[in-house]
Parts: sequence; C-alpha cells; structure tokens
Amino acid sequence: MWGKKSFLVVTGASRGIGREIAIKFSSKLGAGSKVVLIARSTSGLHATRNLILAVTNKTANPVGVTVASVDLSNSAGIEFNDIMEEGCDLDSPETFDSAIMVHNAGTLGTVHKKRDLRRNKFHKGPEVKKTLVNITSLAALKPFPGWSMYCSARAAREALFRNLAAEERDVMVLNYSPGPVETEMMTQVLEQSLPEIKSAMKETTILTVDQTVSRLISILDKGIFSKSGARVDYFDDIV
Ligand SMILES: NC(=O)c1ccc[n+]([C@@H]2O[C@H](COP(=O)([O-])OP(=O)(O)OC[C@H]3O[C@@H](n4cnc5c(N)ncnc54)[C@H](OP(=O)(O)O)[C@@H]3O)[C@@H](O)[C@H]2O)c1
Repeated sequence: MWGKKSFLVVTGASRGIGREIAIKFSSKLGAGSKVVLIARSTSGLHATRNLILAVTNKTANPVGVTVASVDLSNSAGIEFNDIMEEGCDLDSPETFDSAIMVHNAGTLGTVHKKRDLRRNKFHKGPEVKKTLVNITSLAALKPFPGWSMYCSARAAREALFRNLAAEERDVMVLNYSPGPVETEMMTQVLEQSLPEIKSAMKETTILTVDQTVSRLISILDKGIFSKSGARVDYFDDIV
C-alpha cells in the first residue's frame, strides 16, 4: 500500500497516536500524495503538519498537507466533501492510486462522531485501493470498572467498522488495538480512573507512540489480518 500517490486522512492528528500515525504514514507515501489532518486544536494540527513536512521534504516524495479543525463530537453540518476537496488541492479523486483513512480520534469521556464513507468522493472508483483503519481499544472487549461509557462507545465503533467491511467490499478495513500508550489520554487514565484501574495500569508495560505505530505499519505491510474488518491487537502473537 505504500509508495503510491495516495490520499491520506487521519483524525485525531493533533497529538498522541494520531500525530505519530500521520508522520510515519506520510513518510511512506508516493509522489504527489495529499494528507488531511483532522482534530479540534489548530495549533496541534499545525505542529503535526510541520513535523510531516520536516520529514517528507527531505525525501524525493514531499506531500501536501491540509489541516481541518473539526469537532467530531458535534459535526452536524460539516461538509466532509469540502474538506476532502480542499485536501485534494485541484487533483480529482481518480488521480490517486490509494486512499487511506485512519479514524483515530477519541476521548475517554465523550463519544466520537463517525464518518460516513459512502458519502465520500473516494467511494467511487474501485481502481483506487482503499484502506480504512479504526484505532480501537481493548476496552471494546473487556470491562474496565468506571469506564462504561468509553467501553460501550469503543464496542459500538468497532461494530460499525466491521459492518463497513461487510458493506464496502472494495475497502480493506482493519480494527487496530494499540495497547496502553503513553499519551495525554494515558495521563488522564492514570489521574482519573478508579484506584483498582490505576494500580493495574501501574503494573502494565506502557508503550511509546513509536512502538505502537511501527507495529501497525508492519501489520499493514504484511497483511496480517484474516479478512477485512478483523481486529488485531498490538500484543497479538503475530510474526
Ligand atoms: N493511549 C492509549 O493507551 C490508548 C489505548 C487504546 C486505544 N486508544 C485510542 O487511540 C486513539 C488516540 O488516543 P491517544 O492516546 O493518542 O489520545 P490523545 O493524546 O488524547 O489524542 C486524542 C486525539 O483525538 C482528537 N480528538 C479528541 N476528541 C475529538 C473531537 N471531538 N473532535 C476531533 N478530534 C478529537 C484529539 O485532538 P483535539 O483535542 O485537538 O481535538 C487528539 O488529536 C483514541 O481513539 C483512543 O481511544 C488509546
């Protein structure tokens, strides 16, 4: 999937895992690729954009990066096609060889907002290779006392992406569970969770964003998932 002229969208790209995904994925794209970064914090998005340009401008394949400050928990009326069109920057969707979307945005406390892939311009054109990654969580499967809203939202979001895989046969969908990762969200977990969760977390190995995003890339590279819509965890025993 790498090395092609690609259209990449990353939500929650202003910090944490999403920022690392945006940087690492961008550095693997082909000439003429365009990247759209979505989150609320404009300063965070611009910082990610600058980090991407610092990496890709040194390569033979600099990418174009557009940022869109959007609150995905309250996005009624936001015209995603406008954001996509601006991101394409005069190129029409069919000129891209690959479309990659990583839905990473999420909070512990608030439910997210999903994208409707079917309204996306990239829905057309089976010749464009389409990859959709949902950053999920162990919380989608396992109860964590005190986290009922987060666990429910994660389970629902994973089901949504499994469904998308069944509905959109030409899209490769991966639900990737990144493990416990050192980000602002983890700081919040350690500060705000019930005592039993805090002590369990202290016993756990916390990963860096580099570790988990490198694993995600190797899973995508090797195609280590049984079928579209499958879930793979960082700790899964994979070669
Ligand atoms: N860290 C972990 O241990 C861990 C474990 C399992 C799964 N995950 C999942 O991994 C993903 C990334 O988490 P992270 O640890 O990198 O957390 P983080 O550092 O808190 O980053 C969350 C990202 O989501 C964006 N975001 C949150 N609410 C948003 C909204 N309403 N609209 C638009 N963007 C929004 C934030 O940007 P703005 O604030 O600028 O909007 C930020 O870029 C999340 O889906 C999380 O549930 C994390």
